[in-house]
Amino acid sequence: MPATTARLLSTGMWTPSKVLTNQDLEKLVETSDQWITERTGIKERRIADDQLPVAEMGHRAAVAALDEAGMDASEVDALIISTATPDRLLPATACDVQALLGAHNAVAFDVGAACSGWLYALSIARGFIASGQAKNVLCVATEKMSAIVDWTDRSTCVLFGDAAGAAVVVPADREGHGILATHMRSDGSLSELLHRAPHGPGFPLEVAEVSNNGYVQMAGREIYKAAVRSMCEAADVVLKSAGVGIDDVDLMVPHQANIRIIESVAKYTGIGMERVWVNIDRYGNTSSASIPVSLHEARRAGRIEDGSLILMSAFGAGLTWASVLLLW
Ligand code: ACO
Repeated sequence: MPATTARLLSTGMWTPSKVLTNQDLEKLVETSDQWITERTGIKERRIADDQLPVAEMGHRAAVAALDEAGMDASEVDALIISTATPDRLLPATACDVQALLGAHNAVAFDVGAACSGWLYALSIARGFIASGQAKNVLCVATEKMSAIVDWTDRSTCVLFGDAAGAAVVVPADREGHGILATHMRSDGSLSELLHRAPHGPGFPLEVAEVSNNGYVQMAGREIYKAAVRSMCEAADVVLKSAGVGIDDVDLMVPHQANIRIIESVAKYTGIGMERVWVNIDRYGNTSSASIPVSLHEARRAGRIEDGSLILMSAFGAGLTWASVLLLW
Protein backbone atom coordinates (compact mmCIF):
# COMPACT_ATOMS: atom_id res chain seq x y z
CA MET A 1 0.00 0.00 0.00
CA PRO A 2 1.25 3.51 -0.74
CA ALA A 3 2.33 5.82 2.08
CA THR A 4 -0.50 8.02 3.33
CA THR A 5 -0.48 11.67 4.09
CA ALA A 6 -3.79 12.42 5.77
CA ARG A 7 -6.34 10.75 8.00
CA LEU A 8 -9.78 11.51 9.38
CA LEU A 9 -9.50 12.38 13.05
CA SER A 10 -13.22 12.78 13.77
CA THR A 11 -16.66 13.08 12.20
CA GLY A 12 -19.87 14.94 13.02
CA MET A 13 -23.37 15.34 11.68
CA TRP A 14 -26.52 17.38 12.11
CA THR A 15 -30.01 16.63 10.83
CA PRO A 16 -33.25 18.54 11.34
CA SER A 17 -35.76 17.03 13.77
CA LYS A 18 -38.72 17.43 11.40
CA VAL A 19 -39.49 14.14 9.64
CA LEU A 20 -41.41 14.07 6.34
CA THR A 21 -42.71 10.56 5.65
CA ASN A 22 -43.90 9.05 2.38
CA GLN A 23 -47.40 9.17 3.86
CA ASP A 24 -47.01 12.93 4.35
CA LEU A 25 -45.97 13.23 0.69
CA GLU A 26 -49.09 11.32 -0.39
CA LYS A 27 -51.02 14.37 0.82
CA LEU A 28 -48.86 16.81 -1.19
CA VAL A 29 -48.54 15.13 -4.60
CA GLU A 30 -50.02 12.15 -6.43
CA THR A 31 -47.70 9.44 -5.17
CA SER A 32 -47.67 6.45 -2.81
CA ASP A 33 -45.47 4.99 -0.12
CA GLN A 34 -45.25 1.85 -2.25
CA TRP A 35 -44.00 3.72 -5.38
CA ILE A 36 -41.40 5.71 -3.45
CA THR A 37 -40.18 2.71 -1.46
CA GLU A 38 -39.91 0.38 -4.46
CA ARG A 39 -38.28 2.91 -6.81
CA THR A 40 -35.98 4.67 -4.36
CA GLY A 41 -35.76 2.85 -1.00
CA ILE A 42 -36.74 6.08 0.79
CA LYS A 43 -39.27 5.92 3.66
CA GLU A 44 -38.73 9.35 5.20
CA ARG A 45 -36.48 12.40 5.02
CA ARG A 46 -35.58 15.32 7.32
CA ILE A 47 -36.67 18.85 6.47
CA ALA A 48 -34.96 21.95 7.90
CA ASP A 49 -36.86 24.97 9.08
CA ASP A 50 -37.42 27.54 6.29
CA GLN A 51 -35.57 30.18 8.26
CA LEU A 52 -32.55 28.06 9.20
CA PRO A 53 -29.48 29.11 7.17
CA VAL A 54 -27.48 26.42 5.37
CA ALA A 55 -24.38 27.93 7.00
CA GLU A 56 -25.88 27.31 10.46
CA MET A 57 -26.55 23.67 9.55
CA GLY A 58 -22.91 23.29 8.48
CA HIS A 59 -21.78 25.06 11.64
CA ARG A 60 -23.63 22.50 13.80
CA ALA A 61 -22.03 19.53 12.04
CA ALA A 62 -18.62 21.22 12.18
CA VAL A 63 -18.93 21.82 15.94
CA ALA A 64 -19.75 18.13 16.45
CA ALA A 65 -16.63 17.08 14.50
CA LEU A 66 -14.41 19.59 16.31
CA ASP A 67 -15.78 18.45 19.68
CA GLU A 68 -14.93 14.83 18.96
CA ALA A 69 -11.45 15.89 17.78
CA GLY A 70 -10.95 17.97 20.93
CA MET A 71 -9.88 20.78 18.64
CA ASP A 72 -10.57 24.49 18.99
CA ALA A 73 -11.89 26.28 15.89
CA SER A 74 -8.85 28.57 15.99
CA GLU A 75 -6.64 25.55 15.20
CA VAL A 76 -8.34 24.95 11.83
CA ASP A 77 -6.08 25.99 8.90
CA ALA A 78 -8.54 25.29 6.11
CA LEU A 79 -12.33 25.10 6.05
CA ILE A 80 -13.80 23.55 2.92
CA ILE A 81 -17.57 23.58 2.47
CA SER A 82 -19.48 21.55 -0.05
CA THR A 83 -22.97 22.79 -0.80
CA ALA A 84 -25.37 22.90 -3.73
CA THR A 85 -27.77 25.06 -1.75
CA PRO A 86 -25.90 28.18 -0.55
CA ASP A 87 -27.88 30.79 1.39
CA ARG A 88 -26.47 33.39 -0.99
CA LEU A 89 -24.07 33.38 -3.91
CA LEU A 90 -21.65 35.90 -2.41
CA PRO A 91 -19.67 35.36 -0.23
CA ALA A 92 -18.89 31.65 -0.04
CA THR A 93 -20.91 29.69 2.53
CA ALA A 94 -17.52 28.69 3.99
CA CYS A 95 -16.93 32.30 5.05
CA ASP A 96 -20.26 32.38 6.89
CA VAL A 97 -19.45 29.07 8.62
CA GLN A 98 -15.97 30.38 9.46
CA ALA A 99 -17.51 33.41 11.17
CA LEU A 100 -20.00 31.25 13.10
CA LEU A 101 -17.20 28.94 14.27
CA GLY A 102 -14.67 31.67 14.99
CA ALA A 103 -12.17 29.77 12.85
CA HIS A 104 -10.21 32.97 12.31
CA ASN A 105 -6.93 31.29 11.29
CA ALA A 106 -8.43 29.33 8.41
CA VAL A 107 -8.66 29.84 4.69
CA ALA A 108 -12.32 29.23 3.89
CA PHE A 109 -13.82 28.38 0.51
CA ASP A 110 -16.62 26.41 -1.13
CA VAL A 111 -16.46 23.44 -3.46
CA GLY A 112 -19.27 23.15 -5.99
CA ALA A 113 -19.48 19.56 -7.14
CA ALA A 114 -23.05 18.69 -6.08
CA CYS A 115 -23.39 15.20 -4.55
CA SER A 116 -19.67 14.49 -5.10
CA GLY A 117 -18.63 17.67 -3.31
CA TRP A 118 -17.61 16.21 0.03
CA LEU A 119 -15.29 13.67 -1.59
CA TYR A 120 -13.79 16.52 -3.64
CA ALA A 121 -13.26 18.37 -0.33
CA LEU A 122 -11.52 15.34 1.23
CA SER A 123 -9.30 15.05 -1.81
CA ILE A 124 -8.33 18.74 -1.60
CA ALA A 125 -7.69 18.35 2.15
CA ARG A 126 -5.35 15.46 1.45
CA GLY A 127 -3.49 17.58 -1.12
CA PHE A 128 -3.24 20.54 1.28
CA ILE A 129 -1.80 18.30 3.98
CA ALA A 130 0.60 16.54 1.61
CA SER A 131 1.92 19.88 0.34
CA GLY A 132 2.23 21.33 3.84
CA GLN A 133 -0.28 24.12 3.12
CA ALA A 134 -2.46 23.06 6.02
CA LYS A 135 -2.35 20.76 9.04
CA ASN A 136 -5.93 20.76 10.32
CA VAL A 137 -8.59 20.78 7.62
CA LEU A 138 -12.31 20.86 8.35
CA CYS A 139 -14.38 19.36 5.52
CA VAL A 140 -18.11 20.11 5.80
CA ALA A 141 -21.08 19.31 3.59
CA THR A 142 -24.28 21.22 4.26
CA GLU A 143 -27.33 20.76 2.08
CA LYS A 144 -30.85 22.11 2.27
CA MET A 145 -32.33 20.35 -0.72
CA SER A 146 -35.87 21.16 0.49
CA ALA A 147 -35.21 24.79 -0.53
CA ILE A 148 -34.54 23.93 -4.17
CA VAL A 149 -37.07 21.20 -4.97
CA ASP A 150 -40.39 21.91 -6.59
CA TRP A 151 -42.89 20.58 -4.03
CA THR A 152 -45.48 20.13 -6.81
CA ASP A 153 -43.18 17.88 -8.90
CA ARG A 154 -43.60 14.29 -7.72
CA SER A 155 -40.68 13.06 -9.83
CA THR A 156 -38.17 15.02 -7.74
CA CYS A 157 -39.72 16.16 -4.45
CA VAL A 158 -39.90 12.62 -3.04
CA LEU A 159 -36.15 12.07 -3.47
CA PHE A 160 -34.38 14.66 -1.35
CA GLY A 161 -33.76 15.64 2.28
CA ASP A 162 -31.71 18.06 4.37
CA ALA A 163 -28.56 17.29 6.40
CA ALA A 164 -25.03 18.35 7.22
CA GLY A 165 -21.92 16.26 7.90
CA ALA A 166 -18.29 17.02 8.69
CA ALA A 167 -14.85 15.58 9.36
CA VAL A 168 -11.57 16.90 10.71
CA VAL A 169 -8.66 15.82 8.49
CA VAL A 170 -5.12 15.85 9.88
CA PRO A 171 -1.69 14.40 8.95
CA ALA A 172 -1.56 10.60 9.23
CA ASP A 173 0.14 9.38 12.40
CA ARG A 174 1.05 5.92 11.12
CA GLU A 175 2.37 4.76 7.79
CA GLY A 176 -0.25 2.96 5.74
CA HIS A 177 -3.17 4.50 7.63
CA GLY A 178 -5.55 7.22 6.50
CA ILE A 179 -6.50 8.25 2.96
CA LEU A 180 -4.87 5.74 0.63
CA ALA A 181 -6.23 6.97 -2.70
CA THR A 182 -8.57 9.55 -4.18
CA HIS A 183 -10.14 10.01 -7.60
CA MET A 184 -12.18 12.89 -9.06
CA ARG A 185 -13.76 13.32 -12.47
CA SER A 186 -16.32 15.51 -14.19
CA ASP A 187 -18.12 15.81 -17.51
CA GLY A 188 -19.69 19.20 -18.11
CA SER A 189 -21.07 18.17 -21.49
CA LEU A 190 -23.86 16.31 -19.65
CA SER A 191 -24.81 19.13 -17.26
CA GLU A 192 -28.37 19.37 -18.59
CA LEU A 193 -29.21 15.92 -17.19
CA LEU A 194 -29.35 17.32 -13.65
CA HIS A 195 -29.49 21.02 -12.88
CA ARG A 196 -31.51 23.83 -11.38
CA ALA A 197 -33.91 25.27 -13.90
CA PRO A 198 -36.11 28.38 -14.02
CA HIS A 199 -39.43 28.43 -12.20
CA GLY A 200 -41.52 28.85 -15.33
CA PRO A 201 -41.48 29.03 -19.10
CA GLY A 202 -39.82 32.13 -20.50
CA PHE A 203 -37.67 32.67 -17.42
CA PRO A 204 -34.10 33.07 -18.69
CA LEU A 205 -31.92 30.25 -17.41
CA GLU A 206 -28.97 32.51 -16.64
CA VAL A 207 -31.17 34.83 -14.56
CA ALA A 208 -32.64 31.92 -12.62
CA GLU A 209 -29.27 30.43 -11.84
CA VAL A 210 -27.46 33.68 -11.08
CA SER A 211 -30.25 34.82 -8.78
CA ASN A 212 -30.04 31.53 -6.89
CA ASN A 213 -33.54 30.68 -8.05
CA GLY A 214 -34.95 27.66 -9.78
CA TYR A 215 -35.78 24.06 -8.98
CA VAL A 216 -33.92 20.80 -9.42
CA GLN A 217 -34.68 19.11 -12.71
CA MET A 218 -33.40 15.71 -13.62
CA ALA A 219 -33.47 13.17 -16.42
CA GLY A 220 -33.95 10.32 -13.94
CA ARG A 221 -33.20 7.32 -16.17
CA GLU A 222 -30.03 8.81 -17.70
CA ILE A 223 -28.79 9.94 -14.31
CA TYR A 224 -29.44 6.47 -12.92
CA LYS A 225 -27.29 4.81 -15.59
CA ALA A 226 -24.52 7.41 -15.40
CA ALA A 227 -24.44 7.14 -11.60
CA VAL A 228 -23.98 3.36 -11.60
CA ARG A 229 -21.32 3.49 -14.32
CA SER A 230 -19.35 6.35 -12.75
CA MET A 231 -19.49 5.15 -9.14
CA CYS A 232 -18.25 1.68 -10.19
CA GLU A 233 -15.46 3.19 -12.28
CA ALA A 234 -14.43 5.53 -9.47
CA ALA A 235 -14.38 2.66 -6.96
CA ASP A 236 -12.25 0.57 -9.27
CA VAL A 237 -9.69 3.37 -9.78
CA VAL A 238 -8.94 3.86 -6.07
CA LEU A 239 -8.81 0.13 -5.37
CA LYS A 240 -6.29 -0.38 -8.18
CA SER A 241 -4.32 2.70 -7.16
CA ALA A 242 -3.95 1.33 -3.60
CA GLY A 243 -3.26 -2.21 -4.83
CA VAL A 244 -6.18 -3.78 -2.97
CA GLY A 245 -9.25 -5.74 -4.09
CA ILE A 246 -12.94 -5.36 -3.35
CA ASP A 247 -12.74 -8.36 -0.97
CA ASP A 248 -10.37 -6.34 1.23
CA VAL A 249 -12.98 -3.61 1.74
CA ASP A 250 -14.70 -3.77 5.14
CA LEU A 251 -17.39 -1.21 4.37
CA MET A 252 -18.52 0.65 1.29
CA VAL A 253 -20.07 4.04 2.00
CA PRO A 254 -21.74 5.13 -1.23
CA HIS A 255 -23.59 8.37 -1.94
CA GLN A 256 -27.20 7.70 -0.95
CA ALA A 257 -29.12 8.68 -4.10
CA ASN A 258 -31.36 5.68 -4.60
CA ILE A 259 -31.31 2.15 -3.19
CA ARG A 260 -31.40 0.68 -6.69
CA ILE A 261 -28.27 2.65 -7.67
CA ILE A 262 -26.55 1.45 -4.48
CA GLU A 263 -27.54 -2.18 -5.13
CA SER A 264 -26.33 -1.99 -8.74
CA VAL A 265 -23.00 -0.50 -7.67
CA ALA A 266 -22.65 -3.28 -5.09
CA LYS A 267 -23.44 -5.91 -7.70
CA TYR A 268 -21.03 -4.61 -10.36
CA THR A 269 -18.17 -3.95 -7.95
CA GLY A 270 -18.70 -7.39 -6.42
CA ILE A 271 -19.26 -6.32 -2.81
CA GLY A 272 -22.11 -7.91 -0.87
CA MET A 273 -24.85 -5.59 0.42
CA GLU A 274 -23.96 -6.70 3.96
CA ARG A 275 -20.76 -4.65 3.50
CA VAL A 276 -22.56 -1.55 2.17
CA TRP A 277 -23.82 1.25 4.42
CA VAL A 278 -27.43 2.26 3.69
CA ASN A 279 -29.43 4.99 5.40
CA ILE A 280 -31.37 6.36 2.43
CA ASP A 281 -34.56 4.93 3.98
CA ARG A 282 -34.26 7.50 6.81
CA TYR A 283 -32.79 10.56 5.09
CA GLY A 284 -33.44 10.38 1.34
CA ASN A 285 -30.83 11.94 -0.92
CA THR A 286 -29.04 14.67 1.03
CA SER A 287 -26.62 15.45 -1.81
CA SER A 288 -23.01 15.82 -0.64
CA ALA A 289 -23.99 15.48 3.05
CA SER A 290 -24.96 11.85 2.52
CA ILE A 291 -21.42 10.39 2.75
CA PRO A 292 -20.19 12.26 5.87
CA VAL A 293 -23.50 11.56 7.62
CA SER A 294 -23.22 7.88 6.65
CA LEU A 295 -19.61 7.71 7.77
CA HIS A 296 -20.50 9.21 11.14
CA GLU A 297 -23.46 6.86 11.65
CA ALA A 298 -21.42 3.82 10.59
CA ARG A 299 -18.77 4.72 13.15
CA ARG A 300 -21.41 5.16 15.84
CA ALA A 301 -22.89 1.78 14.90
CA GLY A 302 -19.49 0.10 15.35
CA ARG A 303 -19.16 -0.70 11.65
CA ILE A 304 -15.92 1.28 11.34
CA GLU A 305 -13.04 0.72 13.71
CA ASP A 306 -9.29 1.08 13.74
CA GLY A 307 -7.96 -0.74 10.68
CA SER A 308 -11.24 -0.82 8.73
CA LEU A 309 -10.80 -0.33 4.97
CA ILE A 310 -13.50 2.08 3.80
CA LEU A 311 -14.48 2.71 0.18
CA MET A 312 -16.53 5.84 -0.58
CA SER A 313 -17.97 6.60 -3.99
CA ALA A 314 -20.21 9.44 -5.16
CA PHE A 315 -21.88 10.86 -8.23
CA GLY A 316 -23.74 14.09 -8.83
CA ALA A 317 -24.75 17.02 -11.00
CA GLY A 318 -22.07 18.42 -13.23
CA LEU A 319 -21.73 15.64 -13.98
CA THR A 320 -19.20 14.90 -11.27
CA TRP A 321 -18.01 11.72 -9.64
CA ALA A 322 -15.37 10.79 -7.10
CA SER A 323 -14.06 8.10 -4.79
CA VAL A 324 -11.89 7.90 -1.69
CA LEU A 325 -10.30 4.82 -0.15
CA LEU A 326 -9.21 5.09 3.45
CA LEU A 327 -7.88 2.87 6.17
CA TRP A 328 -9.42 4.07 9.43
N1 ACO B 1 -44.99 8.73 -7.50
C1 ACO B 1 -45.69 8.02 -8.39
N2 ACO B 1 -45.39 7.99 -9.70
C2 ACO B 1 -44.31 8.68 -10.10
C3 ACO B 1 -43.54 9.44 -9.22
C4 ACO B 1 -43.92 9.45 -7.85
N3 ACO B 1 -43.24 10.13 -6.92
N4 ACO B 1 -42.54 10.02 -9.91
C5 ACO B 1 -42.67 9.63 -11.17
N5 ACO B 1 -43.75 8.85 -11.29
C6 ACO B 1 -44.27 8.22 -12.48
C7 ACO B 1 -43.85 8.93 -13.74
O1 ACO B 1 -44.71 10.02 -14.01
C8 ACO B 1 -44.00 7.84 -14.78
O2 ACO B 1 -45.36 7.73 -15.14
P1 ACO B 1 -45.77 7.44 -16.68
O3 ACO B 1 -45.17 6.10 -16.99
O4 ACO B 1 -47.25 7.45 -16.61
O5 ACO B 1 -45.16 8.56 -17.46
C9 ACO B 1 -43.63 6.57 -14.01
O6 ACO B 1 -43.74 6.91 -12.62
C10 ACO B 1 -42.24 6.09 -14.29
O7 ACO B 1 -41.37 7.21 -14.20
P2 ACO B 1 -39.84 7.06 -14.44
O8 ACO B 1 -39.18 8.39 -14.26
O9 ACO B 1 -39.60 6.36 -15.72
O10 ACO B 1 -39.50 6.11 -13.22
P3 ACO B 1 -38.15 5.40 -12.88
O11 ACO B 1 -38.37 3.98 -12.72
O12 ACO B 1 -37.04 5.83 -13.79
O13 ACO B 1 -37.85 6.00 -11.45
C11 ACO B 1 -36.41 7.64 -10.46
C12 ACO B 1 -37.66 7.39 -11.28
C13 ACO B 1 -36.64 7.07 -9.07
C14 ACO B 1 -36.13 9.12 -10.36
C15 ACO B 1 -35.26 6.89 -11.15
O14 ACO B 1 -35.13 7.29 -12.48
C16 ACO B 1 -33.97 7.12 -10.48
O15 ACO B 1 -33.72 6.57 -9.44
N6 ACO B 1 -33.09 7.90 -11.06
C17 ACO B 1 -31.81 8.16 -10.47
C18 ACO B 1 -31.72 9.54 -10.17
C19 ACO B 1 -31.58 9.86 -8.74
O16 ACO B 1 -31.69 9.11 -7.81
N7 ACO B 1 -31.29 11.10 -8.63
C20 ACO B 1 -31.07 11.70 -7.41
C21 ACO B 1 -30.26 12.92 -7.62
S1 ACO B 1 -28.80 12.62 -8.49
C22 ACO B 1 -27.75 12.00 -7.47
O17 ACO B 1 -27.81 12.17 -6.30
C23 ACO B 1 -26.74 11.19 -8.09
